[in-house]
Formats: sequence, C-alpha cells, structure tokens
Amino acid sequence: MYVCVCHGITDRQVREAIDRGARKLRDLREELGLCTDCGKCGPCARDLLQEAAPETDVPALGFPAMGAPQPAV
Ligand code: FES
Repeated sequence: MYVCVCHGITDRQVREAIDRGARKLRDLREELGLCTDCGKCGPCARDLLQEAAPETDVPALGFPAMGAPQPAV
C-alpha cells in the first residue's frame, strides 16, 4: 500500500526503515522523503511507527506537544 503518494513510498519501505532504526517521523523524512510535500502521509506513517515500535512516543506531525495554555499577549 502506498503511504506517501507524493513520493511513491510504500508501507513496506517504511517498515524497512523502521527495522533499520527509524523511530521518529523526522527519521522517515530524512531517510525516505516522507512528509516533505503535502504531508498527508504523516498520520499513516505515525501509525506504522507506533505499530512497529509501540514503546516510541510519536508526537503529532509538526505540532508541539500540548501543554498548559499560553497566556494571551
Ligand atoms: S503524501 Fe507524503 S508528502 Fe504528500
């Protein structure tokens, strides 16, 4: 199945990258080019990361972790 249509990257390629040590979306971006165009592949890639390495805490793509609300300026 294609994970990233923009770059023609399959779930098999993502799993192989995870087997080689990728643990974050950043790793997949650097190795495969995932999420470097439209970014729609991010949620699927995140699911594959968590499926393959459930101990890994994969944050939402491109957004900082939710924390306490920031005061209005
Ligand atoms: S589907 Fe991966 S960058 Fe567009």
